[in-house]
Amino acid sequence: MQENFSLKPYNTFGVDAKAKYFIEVQTLEHLKDAINYSKDHHLQVLFLGGGSNILLTKDFDGLAIKLSLKGISEQDLNENEVLVTAKAGENWHEFVMYSLEKNYGGLENLSLIPGNVGTSPMQNIGAYGAEIKDTFVSCTVLDLENLEVKTFNLEDCHFGYRDSIFKQEGKGRYVILEVSFKLTRKDHHIKTEYGAIKTELENLGITHLTIQNVSKAVINIRQSKLPDPKIMGNAGSFFKNPTIPLTQFEDLKLKFENIPGYPNGDVVKVPAGWLIEQCGWKGKQIGNTASHQLQALVIVNATGNATGKEIFDFSTEIIHSVKEKFGIELEREVNII
Ligand code: EPU
Repeated sequence: MQENFSLKPYNTFGVDAKAKYFIEVQTLEHLKDAINYSKDHHLQVLFLGGGSNILLTKDFDGLAIKLSLKGISEQDLNENEVLVTAKAGENWHEFVMYSLEKNYGGLENLSLIPGNVGTSPMQNIGAYGAEIKDTFVSCTVLDLENLEVKTFNLEDCHFGYRDSIFKQEGKGRYVILEVSFKLTRKDHHIKTEYGAIKTELENLGITHLTIQNVSKAVINIRQSKLPDPKIMGNAGSFFKNPTIPLTQFEDLKLKFENIPGYPNGDVVKVPAGWLIEQCGWKGKQIGNTASHQLQALVIVNATGNATGKEIFDFSTEIIHSVKEKFGIELEREVNII
Protein backbone atom coordinates (compact mmCIF):
# COMPACT_ATOMS: atom_id res chain seq x y z
CA MET A 1 0.00 0.00 0.00
CA GLN A 2 1.27 3.46 -0.90
CA GLU A 3 0.65 6.69 0.97
CA ASN A 4 -0.04 10.20 -0.46
CA PHE A 5 -0.07 8.67 -3.90
CA SER A 6 -0.58 10.71 -7.07
CA LEU A 7 -3.49 9.41 -9.17
CA LYS A 8 -2.27 11.30 -12.25
CA PRO A 9 -1.44 8.11 -14.20
CA TYR A 10 -4.73 6.53 -13.10
CA ASN A 11 -7.21 9.02 -14.57
CA THR A 12 -7.32 9.80 -18.30
CA PHE A 13 -7.80 13.53 -17.59
CA GLY A 14 -4.27 13.39 -16.17
CA VAL A 15 -5.34 15.35 -13.10
CA ASP A 16 -2.73 15.35 -10.35
CA ALA A 17 -4.95 14.56 -7.34
CA LYS A 18 -3.58 12.46 -4.51
CA ALA A 19 -5.05 9.52 -2.64
CA LYS A 20 -4.23 9.26 1.04
CA TYR A 21 -3.70 5.52 0.46
CA PHE A 22 -3.46 3.50 -2.75
CA ILE A 23 -3.35 -0.20 -3.50
CA GLU A 24 -3.53 -2.24 -6.69
CA VAL A 25 -5.33 -5.59 -6.42
CA GLN A 26 -4.98 -8.53 -8.80
CA THR A 27 -7.22 -11.12 -7.16
CA LEU A 28 -10.59 -11.27 -5.46
CA GLU A 29 -8.91 -12.24 -2.19
CA HIS A 30 -6.69 -9.14 -2.27
CA LEU A 31 -9.70 -7.01 -3.10
CA LYS A 32 -11.57 -8.37 -0.07
CA ASP A 33 -8.50 -7.80 2.12
CA ALA A 34 -8.29 -4.19 0.95
CA ILE A 35 -11.99 -3.61 1.62
CA ASN A 36 -11.72 -5.17 5.09
CA TYR A 37 -8.71 -2.94 5.78
CA SER A 38 -10.72 0.13 4.80
CA LYS A 39 -13.56 -0.94 7.10
CA ASP A 40 -11.21 -1.59 10.04
CA HIS A 41 -9.58 1.81 9.56
CA HIS A 42 -12.80 3.72 8.73
CA LEU A 43 -11.48 4.76 5.33
CA GLN A 44 -13.63 5.80 2.42
CA VAL A 45 -12.93 3.74 -0.70
CA LEU A 46 -12.51 4.79 -4.32
CA PHE A 47 -12.44 2.02 -6.93
CA LEU A 48 -10.38 2.74 -10.00
CA GLY A 49 -10.92 0.93 -13.29
CA GLY A 50 -9.35 2.44 -16.39
CA GLY A 51 -9.92 5.94 -14.94
CA SER A 52 -11.50 7.03 -18.20
CA ASN A 53 -14.77 8.33 -16.83
CA ILE A 54 -13.84 10.15 -13.63
CA LEU A 55 -12.95 13.69 -12.74
CA LEU A 56 -11.01 14.04 -9.49
CA THR A 57 -11.90 17.49 -8.19
CA LYS A 58 -9.86 17.18 -4.99
CA ASP A 59 -7.44 14.91 -3.16
CA PHE A 60 -9.06 11.69 -1.99
CA ASP A 61 -8.87 11.26 1.77
CA GLY A 62 -9.27 7.48 1.80
CA LEU A 63 -8.11 4.27 0.13
CA ALA A 64 -8.04 4.18 -3.68
CA ILE A 65 -8.19 0.60 -4.95
CA LYS A 66 -7.00 -0.01 -8.49
CA LEU A 67 -8.76 -3.08 -9.91
CA SER A 68 -6.28 -5.13 -11.93
CA LEU A 69 -7.93 -8.55 -12.06
CA LYS A 70 -6.83 -10.09 -15.38
CA GLY A 71 -7.79 -13.02 -17.58
CA ILE A 72 -10.04 -14.03 -20.47
CA SER A 73 -11.83 -17.36 -20.79
CA GLU A 74 -14.16 -18.89 -23.35
CA GLN A 75 -16.97 -21.38 -23.43
CA ASP A 76 -18.60 -22.81 -26.56
CA LEU A 77 -22.34 -22.19 -26.58
CA ASN A 78 -23.22 -23.70 -29.94
CA GLU A 79 -21.82 -23.92 -33.45
CA ASN A 80 -22.20 -20.21 -34.01
CA GLU A 81 -21.85 -18.62 -30.58
CA VAL A 82 -19.19 -18.39 -27.92
CA LEU A 83 -19.38 -17.00 -24.40
CA VAL A 84 -16.30 -14.90 -23.69
CA THR A 85 -15.61 -13.77 -20.13
CA ALA A 86 -13.08 -11.09 -19.29
CA LYS A 87 -11.98 -10.00 -15.85
CA ALA A 88 -12.57 -6.40 -14.79
CA GLY A 89 -8.97 -5.23 -15.17
CA GLU A 90 -8.65 -6.18 -18.84
CA ASN A 91 -8.28 -3.12 -21.06
CA TRP A 92 -11.46 -2.71 -23.12
CA HIS A 93 -9.85 -2.08 -26.50
CA GLU A 94 -7.34 -4.93 -26.09
CA PHE A 95 -10.30 -7.18 -25.28
CA VAL A 96 -12.08 -6.06 -28.47
CA MET A 97 -8.88 -6.72 -30.46
CA TYR A 98 -8.61 -10.19 -28.88
CA SER A 99 -12.17 -10.98 -30.01
CA LEU A 100 -11.47 -9.73 -33.55
CA GLU A 101 -8.28 -11.80 -33.84
CA LYS A 102 -10.37 -14.84 -33.06
CA ASN A 103 -12.99 -13.60 -35.54
CA TYR A 104 -15.65 -13.30 -32.83
CA GLY A 105 -18.29 -10.74 -33.79
CA GLY A 106 -20.30 -8.28 -31.69
CA LEU A 107 -17.81 -5.84 -30.21
CA GLU A 108 -16.27 -4.34 -33.38
CA ASN A 109 -18.27 -1.09 -33.27
CA LEU A 110 -16.96 -0.52 -29.75
CA SER A 111 -13.29 -0.47 -30.81
CA LEU A 112 -10.96 2.05 -29.18
CA ILE A 113 -13.27 3.05 -26.33
CA PRO A 114 -10.97 3.91 -23.42
CA GLY A 115 -11.37 2.15 -20.08
CA ASN A 116 -11.51 -1.39 -18.74
CA VAL A 117 -13.93 -4.27 -19.15
CA GLY A 118 -15.08 -3.93 -15.54
CA THR A 119 -16.51 -0.48 -16.01
CA SER A 120 -18.18 -1.19 -19.36
CA PRO A 121 -21.53 -2.20 -17.79
CA MET A 122 -21.60 0.82 -15.45
CA GLN A 123 -22.74 3.17 -18.16
CA ASN A 124 -23.56 0.59 -20.85
CA ILE A 125 -20.76 1.93 -23.06
CA GLY A 126 -21.85 2.58 -26.60
CA ALA A 127 -20.68 4.03 -29.88
CA TYR A 128 -21.34 3.89 -33.62
CA GLY A 129 -24.65 2.05 -33.44
CA ALA A 130 -23.80 -0.49 -30.71
CA GLU A 131 -23.96 -0.73 -26.93
CA ILE A 132 -22.59 -3.45 -24.68
CA LYS A 133 -26.13 -4.50 -23.78
CA ASP A 134 -26.37 -5.96 -27.33
CA THR A 135 -23.85 -8.73 -26.50
CA PHE A 136 -23.82 -8.67 -22.68
CA VAL A 137 -24.88 -11.89 -20.96
CA SER A 138 -23.96 -11.37 -17.31
CA CYS A 139 -21.47 -9.93 -14.89
CA THR A 140 -20.13 -11.16 -11.59
CA VAL A 141 -19.96 -8.57 -8.83
CA LEU A 142 -18.77 -8.27 -5.25
CA ASP A 143 -21.50 -6.93 -2.98
CA LEU A 144 -19.82 -4.47 -0.62
CA GLU A 145 -22.57 -4.87 1.99
CA ASN A 146 -21.68 -8.49 2.77
CA LEU A 147 -18.65 -9.28 0.56
CA GLU A 148 -20.66 -11.94 -1.29
CA VAL A 149 -20.19 -12.64 -4.98
CA LYS A 150 -23.36 -12.30 -7.06
CA THR A 151 -24.30 -12.60 -10.73
CA PHE A 152 -26.30 -9.98 -12.61
CA ASN A 153 -27.98 -11.09 -15.83
CA LEU A 154 -28.95 -8.77 -18.67
CA GLU A 155 -32.41 -7.99 -17.21
CA ASP A 156 -30.97 -7.34 -13.73
CA CYS A 157 -28.70 -4.58 -15.07
CA HIS A 158 -31.52 -2.24 -16.25
CA PHE A 159 -29.39 -0.95 -19.10
CA GLY A 160 -30.37 2.35 -20.71
CA TYR A 161 -28.55 5.07 -22.66
CA ARG A 162 -25.29 5.51 -20.70
CA ASP A 163 -27.10 4.03 -17.73
CA SER A 164 -27.47 0.88 -15.60
CA ILE A 165 -28.43 -0.28 -12.13
CA PHE A 166 -24.79 0.40 -11.15
CA LYS A 167 -25.38 4.14 -11.63
CA GLN A 168 -28.83 4.08 -10.00
CA GLU A 169 -30.08 2.05 -7.04
CA GLY A 170 -26.91 -0.09 -6.99
CA LYS A 171 -24.58 2.92 -7.01
CA GLY A 172 -21.57 2.41 -4.77
CA ARG A 173 -22.71 -1.04 -3.67
CA TYR A 174 -21.09 -3.39 -6.17
CA VAL A 175 -17.64 -3.91 -7.63
CA ILE A 176 -17.75 -5.61 -11.03
CA LEU A 177 -15.32 -8.54 -11.14
CA GLU A 178 -15.86 -9.98 -14.61
CA VAL A 179 -18.19 -9.61 -17.58
CA SER A 180 -19.45 -12.24 -20.05
CA PHE A 181 -20.44 -11.55 -23.64
CA LYS A 182 -22.14 -13.72 -26.23
CA LEU A 183 -20.21 -13.32 -29.49
CA THR A 184 -20.72 -14.83 -32.94
CA ARG A 185 -18.21 -17.11 -34.69
CA LYS A 186 -19.78 -16.69 -38.14
CA ASP A 187 -22.90 -15.09 -39.68
CA HIS A 188 -21.88 -11.88 -37.89
CA HIS A 189 -24.50 -9.15 -37.51
CA ILE A 190 -22.47 -6.39 -39.08
CA LYS A 191 -23.77 -2.93 -38.12
CA THR A 192 -23.02 -0.14 -40.55
CA GLU A 193 -26.23 1.93 -40.13
CA TYR A 194 -24.26 4.68 -38.40
CA GLY A 195 -23.67 6.98 -41.39
CA ALA A 196 -20.01 7.75 -40.75
CA ILE A 197 -19.09 4.03 -40.84
CA LYS A 198 -20.43 3.60 -44.39
CA THR A 199 -18.59 6.72 -45.55
CA GLU A 200 -15.33 5.61 -43.91
CA LEU A 201 -15.57 2.11 -45.44
CA GLU A 202 -15.98 3.78 -48.85
CA ASN A 203 -12.99 6.05 -48.15
CA LEU A 204 -10.94 2.99 -47.30
CA GLY A 205 -12.08 1.36 -50.56
CA ILE A 206 -13.53 -1.59 -48.66
CA THR A 207 -16.21 -3.55 -50.47
CA HIS A 208 -15.82 -6.81 -48.56
CA LEU A 209 -17.58 -6.30 -45.22
CA THR A 210 -15.91 -8.00 -42.27
CA ILE A 211 -16.01 -7.29 -38.56
CA GLN A 212 -12.31 -6.43 -38.74
CA ASN A 213 -12.98 -3.82 -41.44
CA VAL A 214 -15.82 -2.27 -39.43
CA SER A 215 -13.41 -2.03 -36.49
CA LYS A 216 -10.84 -0.31 -38.73
CA ALA A 217 -13.45 2.20 -39.89
CA VAL A 218 -14.53 2.93 -36.31
CA ILE A 219 -10.91 3.38 -35.21
CA ASN A 220 -10.31 5.83 -38.06
CA ILE A 221 -13.45 7.85 -37.23
CA ARG A 222 -12.58 8.02 -33.55
CA GLN A 223 -8.97 8.99 -34.24
CA SER A 224 -10.11 11.71 -36.63
CA LYS A 225 -12.09 13.62 -34.02
CA LEU A 226 -11.54 12.29 -30.53
CA PRO A 227 -8.33 13.32 -28.75
CA ASP A 228 -6.07 10.48 -27.57
CA PRO A 229 -6.03 10.70 -23.74
CA LYS A 230 -2.36 9.63 -23.76
CA ILE A 231 -1.57 12.83 -25.66
CA MET A 232 -4.20 15.22 -24.29
CA GLY A 233 -6.07 14.38 -21.10
CA ASN A 234 -9.83 13.87 -21.49
CA ALA A 235 -12.65 11.51 -20.54
CA GLY A 236 -14.48 11.26 -23.86
CA SER A 237 -17.91 12.85 -23.95
CA PHE A 238 -18.19 14.98 -20.84
CA PHE A 239 -21.99 15.29 -21.01
CA LYS A 240 -24.81 12.99 -22.06
CA ASN A 241 -26.81 13.85 -25.13
CA PRO A 242 -29.99 15.32 -23.59
CA THR A 243 -33.45 13.95 -24.29
CA ILE A 244 -36.18 16.56 -24.48
CA PRO A 245 -39.96 16.43 -25.08
CA LEU A 246 -40.96 16.58 -28.76
CA THR A 247 -43.00 19.73 -28.08
CA GLN A 248 -39.93 21.51 -26.69
CA PHE A 249 -37.91 20.37 -29.72
CA GLU A 250 -40.56 21.74 -32.09
CA ASP A 251 -40.50 25.10 -30.30
CA LEU A 252 -36.69 25.20 -30.54
CA LYS A 253 -36.87 24.33 -34.25
CA LEU A 254 -38.84 27.55 -34.86
CA LYS A 255 -35.97 29.56 -33.42
CA PHE A 256 -33.00 27.40 -34.44
CA GLU A 257 -34.02 25.80 -37.71
CA ASN A 258 -30.83 23.69 -38.06
CA ILE A 259 -31.07 22.06 -34.64
CA PRO A 260 -30.36 18.33 -35.10
CA GLY A 261 -32.47 15.78 -33.24
CA TYR A 262 -33.14 12.05 -33.20
CA PRO A 263 -36.84 11.51 -32.41
CA ASN A 264 -37.93 8.48 -30.42
CA GLY A 265 -41.68 8.45 -29.71
CA ASP A 266 -42.57 11.67 -27.93
CA VAL A 267 -39.00 12.57 -27.00
CA VAL A 268 -36.03 13.77 -29.05
CA LYS A 269 -32.33 13.21 -28.37
CA VAL A 270 -30.33 16.32 -29.22
CA PRO A 271 -26.54 16.15 -29.77
CA ALA A 272 -24.95 18.02 -26.87
CA GLY A 273 -21.90 18.70 -29.07
CA TRP A 274 -24.06 20.83 -31.38
CA LEU A 275 -25.61 22.79 -28.49
CA ILE A 276 -22.18 23.47 -26.99
CA GLU A 277 -20.72 24.50 -30.34
CA GLN A 278 -23.63 26.90 -30.96
CA CYS A 279 -22.83 28.59 -27.65
CA GLY A 280 -19.35 29.35 -28.97
CA TRP A 281 -17.42 26.87 -26.84
CA LYS A 282 -15.89 24.64 -29.51
CA GLY A 283 -12.10 25.00 -29.35
CA LYS A 284 -12.36 27.64 -26.63
CA GLN A 285 -9.73 27.51 -23.88
CA ILE A 286 -9.86 29.07 -20.43
CA GLY A 287 -6.63 28.65 -18.46
CA ASN A 288 -5.64 24.98 -18.71
CA THR A 289 -9.00 23.67 -19.91
CA ALA A 290 -10.69 23.63 -23.31
CA SER A 291 -13.57 22.25 -25.29
CA HIS A 292 -11.96 20.13 -28.01
CA GLN A 293 -11.63 21.83 -31.37
CA LEU A 294 -12.95 18.83 -33.33
CA GLN A 295 -15.66 17.63 -30.93
CA ALA A 296 -17.18 20.21 -28.58
CA LEU A 297 -18.61 17.53 -26.26
CA VAL A 298 -15.12 16.54 -25.14
CA ILE A 299 -13.45 18.69 -22.48
CA VAL A 300 -9.66 18.45 -22.51
CA ASN A 301 -6.82 19.11 -20.11
CA ALA A 302 -5.25 21.37 -22.74
CA THR A 303 -1.95 22.13 -21.04
CA GLY A 304 -1.65 18.96 -18.99
CA ASN A 305 -1.76 21.07 -15.82
CA ALA A 306 -5.50 21.46 -15.32
CA THR A 307 -6.89 20.72 -11.89
CA GLY A 308 -10.11 18.78 -11.52
CA LYS A 309 -11.73 21.87 -10.01
CA GLU A 310 -10.82 23.95 -13.09
CA ILE A 311 -12.31 21.31 -15.41
CA PHE A 312 -15.42 21.09 -13.26
CA ASP A 313 -15.89 24.88 -13.24
CA PHE A 314 -15.39 24.98 -17.01
CA SER A 315 -18.13 22.34 -17.42
CA THR A 316 -20.42 24.39 -15.16
CA GLU A 317 -19.99 27.40 -17.43
CA ILE A 318 -20.94 25.27 -20.44
CA ILE A 319 -24.05 24.03 -18.62
CA HIS A 320 -25.07 27.62 -17.86
CA SER A 321 -24.61 28.82 -21.46
CA VAL A 322 -26.57 25.93 -22.95
CA LYS A 323 -29.35 26.43 -20.40
CA GLU A 324 -29.51 30.15 -21.15
CA LYS A 325 -29.56 29.79 -24.94
CA PHE A 326 -31.67 26.64 -25.39
CA GLY A 327 -33.39 26.05 -22.03
CA ILE A 328 -31.81 22.58 -21.93
CA GLU A 329 -29.99 21.36 -18.82
CA LEU A 330 -26.95 19.26 -19.76
CA GLU A 331 -26.12 16.36 -17.47
CA ARG A 332 -22.52 15.31 -16.85
CA GLU A 333 -21.67 11.83 -18.05
CA VAL A 334 -18.34 11.76 -16.23
CA ASN A 335 -18.34 10.76 -12.55
CA ILE A 336 -17.35 13.66 -10.35
CA ILE A 337 -15.26 12.65 -7.33
N1 EPU B 1 -21.90 17.96 -33.25
C1 EPU B 1 -21.66 19.29 -33.51
N2 EPU B 1 -20.50 19.85 -33.03
C2 EPU B 1 -19.60 19.14 -32.35
C3 EPU B 1 -19.84 17.78 -32.10
C4 EPU B 1 -21.01 17.20 -32.55
O1 EPU B 1 -22.44 19.97 -34.12
O2 EPU B 1 -18.58 19.73 -31.97
C5 EPU B 1 -23.16 17.34 -33.73
C6 EPU B 1 -23.19 16.99 -35.19
O3 EPU B 1 -24.48 17.33 -35.64
C7 EPU B 1 -23.05 15.48 -35.22
C8 EPU B 1 -23.74 15.11 -33.93
O4 EPU B 1 -23.42 16.17 -33.04
O5 EPU B 1 -23.69 14.93 -36.31
C9 EPU B 1 -23.28 13.80 -33.34
O6 EPU B 1 -21.87 13.85 -33.15
P1 EPU B 1 -21.01 12.50 -32.99
O7 EPU B 1 -21.33 11.56 -34.08
O8 EPU B 1 -19.59 12.89 -32.79
O9 EPU B 1 -21.59 11.83 -31.70
P2 EPU B 1 -21.96 12.41 -30.25
O10 EPU B 1 -23.44 12.32 -30.10
O11 EPU B 1 -21.33 13.72 -30.01
C10 EPU B 1 -21.93 10.07 -29.11
C11 EPU B 1 -21.32 9.44 -27.91
C12 EPU B 1 -19.85 9.11 -28.16
C13 EPU B 1 -19.76 8.15 -29.34
C14 EPU B 1 -20.42 8.81 -30.56
C15 EPU B 1 -20.49 7.86 -31.74
C16 EPU B 1 -22.57 10.35 -26.05
C17 EPU B 1 -22.56 11.25 -24.87
N3 EPU B 1 -21.46 10.32 -26.77
O12 EPU B 1 -21.27 11.31 -29.31
O13 EPU B 1 -19.35 8.45 -27.02
O14 EPU B 1 -18.41 7.83 -29.64
O15 EPU B 1 -21.78 9.18 -30.23
O16 EPU B 1 -21.46 6.88 -31.51
O17 EPU B 1 -23.57 9.67 -26.29
C18 EPU B 1 -18.25 8.81 -24.93
O18 EPU B 1 -19.28 8.46 -24.37
O19 EPU B 1 -17.23 9.15 -24.27
C19 EPU B 1 -18.20 8.89 -26.39
C20 EPU B 1 -17.14 9.38 -27.03
